[in-house]
This record gives sequence, C-alpha cells and structure tokens, in this order.
Amino acid sequence: MVNTKVTLSGLELDNPVIPASGTFGFGYEFAELYDINILGSFSFKGTTKEPRFGNPTPRIAECPMGMINSVGLQNPGIDKVISEELPKLKKCFNKKVIANISGFSVDEYSYCAERIDKEEQVGIIEINVSCPNVHNGGMAFGTSAENVAKVTKAVKEVTTKPVYIKLSPNVTDIVSIAKACEENGADGISMINTLLGMRIDLKTKKPVIANKMGGFSGTAILPVALRMVYQVYEAVNIPIIGMGGVSTAEDVIEMMLAGATAVQVGAANLVEPFACKNIIENLPKVMEKYKIDDLKSIIGGAH
Ligand SMILES: Cc1cc2nc3c(=O)[nH]c(=O)nc-3n(C[C@H](O)[C@H](O)[C@H](O)COP(=O)(O)O)c2cc1C
Repeated sequence: MVNTKVTLSGLELDNPVIPASGTFGFGYEFAELYDINILGSFSFKGTTKEPRFGNPTPRIAECPMGMINSVGLQNPGIDKVISEELPKLKKCFNKKVIANISGFSVDEYSYCAERIDKEEQVGIIEINVSCPNVHNGGMAFGTSAENVAKVTKAVKEVTTKPVYIKLSPNVTDIVSIAKACEENGADGISMINTLLGMRIDLKTKKPVIANKMGGFSGTAILPVALRMVYQVYEAVNIPIIGMGGVSTAEDVIEMMLAGATAVQVGAANLVEPFACKNIIENLPKVMEKYKIDDLKSIIGGAH
C-alpha cells in the first residue's frame, strides 16, 4: 500500500489533491456528485469584505487546452460566507478547508483574515494577492514585493492559523515576491494564479470577454506553473501548494517533484466535475508505476 499523505504547516492531508479557489464553489455543490471527503482539502471561492456581483458578461472564453475567466471575484461577502456558506459546507465536509481571501486594500485583507481565522473549520488562510490595489493606482498587490510584504505582515498580525500567500504569475521576478512573503512571516506559498490573456471574436472583431482581458488557466499553463514552483522552491524554506494546469495524477507527481507539498486543481473541475475524484483514485496506481511508496519523499525531487 502506497502512502499518499502529506502535511501542510502541521495539517495532515490524506492526499495532496485540493480543488482550487473559484472552481469548486463552497464545496456542497460538488457534494451532490460525490463524497467530497475523499479530497485532501479544498480552497473555497475568493471572499471579500462586501458582496460582489462580479464582472459583466461574457466573462469566459474558451481556448485550446484552457480557458480565460474574468469572473471578478463574485461572492456573497465575508458575513454571508461565515453565516451561510460555511454551515452548509460543514454538513458535507468533515475536514479542514482552505479559506481564500481577497481584498482591495491592506485593511480589507486583514479584516477578512481576522474574521475567518476564528472559524473552526478553517485550517489554512490563503491570501490571493492578485486583486488591484485601490490605494495604489489599481496595480495588483501581487506584482510588487513591497505590497505583498505589507499584506503578509498585516494578515499575520491578526491571525493564528497558517497563512499562505497566493502569487500571481504576471510578474518579472516571482522569486523576489515569494521571498518577501517568507521574510514577512508567511507560512507557505500558493502558486500560481491565472496568466493575463485575451481572445478576439473574428465575427465582431472585438474582445470576447466584456472586460477585454481575463485570467488564462488550464492544461496549457502547466509548464509555466512547474517552472515557477521549481524556482520558488529553490529560494524559500516554506511549503508550496502548486497549481496551474494540473488535470491528472501524473501532473500531481510532476508538480511535487518541482517542489510542491500539495497540489490544487482548477479549470479541470469545470471541464470534468469528477476531475479531482479521478486524480485521487488514480494516484496510487501512478505511484506504483513510478515506484513511489511515500508521496512525501518526492517533494522537490527534481532538484
Ligand atoms: C473560473 C475561475 C475562477 C477563479 N477564481 C479564483 C478566486 O476567486 N480566487 C483565487 O485565488 N483564484 C481563483 N482562480 C484561480 C485558480 O484558483 C487557479 O489559481 C488557476 O486557475 C490556475 O489553476 P488551473 O490551471 O488548474 O485552473 C479562478 C480560476 C478560474 C478558472
């Protein structure tokens, strides 16, 4: 029997497979399809202080081997997430969840993180720094090491649970940003978020997405994500949750060899709602094929 268990900042997971934020709702939607307790954990939809209706439609564009989304952080807001979504989730998921938090100012990140930190079912707080910084010209927090440092420090001051900073790949030097997270107390790194992309409709000769651009993700981005996880693993000593283009058990192993301790699956859930279940079921067979007895032992093995 192979061992698929991994540990993230003291939190032991039965396996490293975690649906990524924004692609698995608040879990209970998928619990109608299968028992989601087979998952290692899952990261719920990005939550902000106020409810958000999201961006205008169309906000999805299909691409070969992937998709562009511009959902715009549609969510019911932190109050309702705590009072309505988490109780529903609790009924169908008996493990710890990853709380994905977004914000448009340092204060908003700390406010939401402090609130969610008190929720018993939250095991890890994942801070998505891909939102525009309203106090600083609208540039995403995640594109500046200085801003990422400020958010990390502020969130760590008001929380007790492990804090993972979720990095944007739309930067020239992801390593310096990951280091800024570690230096300011982050317990781990989640990476990568979507790559900025666009498509143009030949009939209208205009961008397909109402907001013109959106985040590209799906199987096509796996090599980019692997490269970034590999680089960051060499530079920091905190665990990495790797994601970007993962859709098979083989991809999970590749991501772990690059340096990930656990792995999130995003767009694949939208193509195949059973994607995570299939990966978890295949993982032991693929481990046997590649003579891996203990999954933990391969983390960073490609270095
Ligand atoms: C429809 C959609 C919505 C997303 N919403 C969020 C979100 O709310 N918060 C977040 O941190 N990432 C969000 N993401 C990014 C994913 O969590 C993930 O980082 C990215 O898609 C790369 O993984 P993938 O290639 O497996 O999709 C979203 C992705 C998609 C496709």
